[in-house]
Amino acid sequence: MKDEQCVRFLQWALPLLHMRWPGFRRVRKQVCKRIDSRMRDLSLAGIDEYKVYLHDHPDEWVELDALCRITISRFYRDQGVFATLQQRVLPALARQVLDRSDTLFRVWSAGCGSGEEPYTLAVLWAMELQPQYPNLSIDIVATDADPNMMRRARDAGYKFGSLKIMPESWRDRAFEIEGDNYCLRLEYRRCVQLLPQDIRQEQPEGRFDLVLCRNLVFTYFDDALQLEQLRRIVDAMHDGAALVIGIQEKLPDGAKGLSVCFDEQRIYRKNGDVVDPKWI
Ligand SMILES: C[S@@+](CC[C@H](N)C(=O)[O-])C[C@H]1O[C@@H](n2cnc3c(N)ncnc32)[C@H](O)[C@@H]1O
Repeated sequence: MKDEQCVRFLQWALPLLHMRWPGFRRVRKQVCKRIDSRMRDLSLAGIDEYKVYLHDHPDEWVELDALCRITISRFYRDQGVFATLQQRVLPALARQVLDRSDTLFRVWSAGCGSGEEPYTLAVLWAMELQPQYPNLSIDIVATDADPNMMRRARDAGYKFGSLKIMPESWRDRAFEIEGDNYCLRLEYRRCVQLLPQDIRQEQPEGRFDLVLCRNLVFTYFDDALQLEQLRRIVDAMHDGAALVIGIQEKLPDGAKGLSVCFDEQRIYRKNGDVVDPKWI
């Protein structure tokens, strides 16, 4: 299929899936390739036939939805964000958890890819924060709709390319090398629970101190779906908790209940009674 045919098809189909074309513009090749392969599996001659097939087989929309998942990630993605989390945000959040006499620091990584994001946080916590907060334990719930991503996250084996920007000392301590695979040591995986979940349908139970929702909702979903997801995310946050979105993303118009903490790093805080001047 030619690029322009795929573009036209995506511009037609994505809104029907409550997704937005601009989010896919740069990464469309990945999706177009998958649609090509799907059409071959169905022995369809071209995109017009695929449109007819979608019309005649409404279940195919679920397949198409899955073909539109962009799965690119890496450890320590957007270094400045993790540096700000380490230096400014996590210490403030840790104090908040202790102030409410809790011992569990709860994090949700929504759309966690094959584990790069939640495992980065697990390593960062173990290396830098745990020694300062020996009475706190971290519990990271990592959710993703894609079964392949979940399987890879469970295997926790990575190529060097996906962890090359991580601080070297962390990398050396946290991974063991097996052939050309870097395997995350078990001790850094134990605090991460992996749950196969479509964020549009379910979310993990309980309240969180920190939510990372990067490069998913606020890039690919349409405005109405973004607002709906954001409302549910904010509901799942403790007062004073932090939300991190992708560095290229912005909150939808009409977003409520959050104030900007670190604009450049896209870190927000849930408004609540907790006011801590040290935070900003
Ligand atoms: C571009 S990756 C981002 C990974 C990581 N958050 C990051 O920023 O590096 C988006 C992830 O969201 C997942 N995803 C896509 N649609 C989803 C949905 N409806 N519910 C949950 N996860 C979804 C994809 O499978 C993929 O792993």
